[in-house]
Amino acid sequence: MATTLLSIRGLTTVFHCRQGQIEAFNNVDLDIDQGQVLGLIGETGCGKSVLGMSILRLLPPNGVSRGQIIYKYRDLLGLSPQVMQRIRGAEIGLLPQNPSASLNPVLSVGQQLMEGLRLHRMIKKEKARVAAQTLLGCYGLRGFNNRYDEYPHQLSGGMKQRVLAALSITGKPSLLIADEPTKGLDGVARNQVVALLRQLTRETKMALLLITHDLKVAANLCDQIAVMYCGEIVENGPVGKVLVSPLHPYTQGLLASLPENGLHPIPDYSPGVPGDIQGCRFYPRCRYRQDKCSCQTIKNKRINETYVRCLSASEGREN
Ligand SMILES: Nc1ncnc2c1ncn2[C@@H]1O[C@H](COP(=O)(O)OP(=O)(O)OP(=O)(O)O)[C@@H](O)[C@H]1O
Ligand SMILES: [Mg+2]
Repeated sequence: MATTLLSIRGLTTVFHCRQGQIEAFNNVDLDIDQGQVLGLIGETGCGKSVLGMSILRLLPPNGVSRGQIIYKYRDLLGLSPQVMQRIRGAEIGLLPQNPSASLNPVLSVGQQLMEGLRLHRMIKKEKARVAAQTLLGCYGLRGFNNRYDEYPHQLSGGMKQRVLAALSITGKPSLLIADEPTKGLDGVARNQVVALLRQLTRETKMALLLITHDLKVAANLCDQIAVMYCGEIVENGPVGKVLVSPLHPYTQGLLASLPENGLHPIPDYSPGVPGDIQGCRFYPRCRYRQDKCSCQTIKNKRINETYVRCLSASEGREN
C-alpha cells in the first residue's frame, strides 16, 4: 500500500494588506503519496503558487497560513525557521515558476550546481565538481557540450529550466514542487522538460507536485489531479477520471475550453474576493446551479475514487 508523504489538512493562507485581508486559498485538503505525481490545475490567480510556497513556508511577511501540513509525520507549520531551512531543498525541492529570475546571473551554471551539492551533500569542492558535471549530463543539458562554464544568459529558456531541474534535486528531495515548469517553452523544449521530470520521478522515486496550466503535460505526467477554483480544491481524483470524465462543472468547463474540444469558454469571470462568497464559489457560472448551492457549505462528496465539491455531481452526468 502507498505511504502518504505529505498530508495537508484544512490549510488556509491569507495576506494582510492595507485594504484588509486577502484570502489566497481556503481549507485545502490534499495528500501526496511517496513517488506519486499530483497535478494541481486551475485558472490564473486561483491560489496554486501560493499553495506551493505555503508548503515550503516561503510566503512574504504579510502571508499567514493556518491548518496542518504534515510531512513525514511532522507538521511543517510548527517547525522552527532553522529546521524548516534544512527541509527546503534536502527534503522538499522547488522548481520555481520563473527560470530566468531564479538562476544567479553572475555565476556559471556549473558553479551554481556545485554550490547546491556542497550545501546539501556536504562534499568537497573537487567531488562536487564531478557530481555537478554528472548531474548536468544526466538531467540538465544532456547532449550539450561545454555548458558547465556558461552563464544563465547564454542558455535558452528550455536549457535554463533543465539546469534549474538539476539544481532542484541536488539535495535528493523526497518531494519536488514544480511550478509551471513548461511555461513559455516551445513544443520541443516542453517535451524535453516533461521527459526530464518523468525520468527524475522514475529514477529517484521522488514525489512531484506539478502546478500547471498545461492539461496535456498534466495528462502525460500525473497519477492524480487536483482542480482548484477560486482558492478551493473542487475535484481530486485519478488522472484518467478527472481529465476524461470530470465530475465538477468547473473541470468540465476547463476541458471544454480547450481548442481540441471546441474552444467553449466558461461564461463570466472568477469572483475577485472569494472570502465574501457563501456556498459554492462556482455558483454564478455554473450551468447546473440550484438555489441551495449559493447558501450552504459544500462538502466533499466521494464518487468512486474521486472527491468532488459539488451538490449536484453524480456519476455519469452528461457534460
Ligand atoms: N504577496 C501577496 N499579497 C497579496 N495577495 C497575494 C500575494 N501573492 C499572491 N496573492 C494573491 O493570492 C491569490 C493566488 O495567487 P497565486 O499566485 O497563487 O495564483 P496562481 O493560481 O498561481 O496563478 P497563475 O496561474 O497565474 O500563476 C491571487 O489572488 C493573488 O493576487
Ligand atoms: Mg502561479
